[in-house]
Amino acid sequence: MGSVTSEGAKERAALAAVALVEEGTTIAVGSGSTVDKAIRALGRRFEGSLRKPAVVAASRRSEMLVTEAGLPLLMLDKVTSFPLMLDGADEVAPDLTLIKGGGGALTREKLLATMSQSLVIMVDYTKLVQRIGEHALLPVEVVPFAAPYVGRKLRELNLEPTVRISPGGAIVPYLTDNHCEILDCRLPSRVFDPQELEANILKIRGVLDCGLFVRMANRVFVGTRDGRVEEMHPPTSPPRLHLPEELREALLRKMARGPVTPPVPVRRRPKSRKATRPSPHRRPKGKRSR
Ligand code: 5RP
Repeated sequence: MGSVTSEGAKERAALAAVALVEEGTTIAVGSGSTVDKAIRALGRRFEGSLRKPAVVAASRRSEMLVTEAGLPLLMLDKVTSFPLMLDGADEVAPDLTLIKGGGGALTREKLLATMSQSLVIMVDYTKLVQRIGEHALLPVEVVPFAAPYVGRKLRELNLEPTVRISPGGAIVPYLTDNHCEILDCRLPSRVFDPQELEANILKIRGVLDCGLFVRMANRVFVGTRDGRVEEMHPPTSPPRLHLPEELREALLRKMARGPVTPPVPVRRRPKSRKATRPSPHRRPKGKRSR
């Protein structure tokens, strides 16, 4: 087969992912051109069905497309979790660490992904990288008032932030659906611990979220250059536990403390046959204190 364009490869990946959606379920979708294709494919697949899947979408644009595709659109007041979320990505590393947020919907996408039992990512072959930050900038969504402060703090983390500009033509900051700004950050040449980097970014006041998705993706469908769809899995898939928040927190705290050291066994002294001196604290037999 000849060389498939990036758009064609996205379409194929989206079709493979849409095949996982079951009638009558409620799923989550992210945002971006690959998600657009998946939403349209979903609409076609369930056309005329009496049990169309309902959808919660991560952006206004995706919401609009869901409605256009004739699928029921839900908001988070009606849903507590999803069996499946379909989303795109800007970069996929071999261990399935992702950079997302090229379309600016990263905060809502990460929230929906957290609520999903399975996060399925659909990408074309241009998104695969050997190390995270190879091509894409890492988006950080910030409260506009805090942007200069957050920018300084991000530089202290060895990141190079620039304010994302609105595509409209005027030089004004791009605003997300949450009315926040995006600082796009160049990453250092090697990020040894993406999870730690994410945690350090999220500690900065004024940050809503960042586009690093670590150990979140369960499957990645990659549309290849030669027209196939390959599937990637995490190196070892830790079970995604759906526990009440407080139970999960307690479990994570316990795991962070590390393994419990077994108590050192106490060796008892062998009983001596010789009469031992009575302990001054012992009461003589038979005498009861009142
Ligand atoms: C939006 C995203 C998108 O999934 C990401 O930017 C990929 O977009 P596309 O499918 O257009 O290549 O994270 O916030």
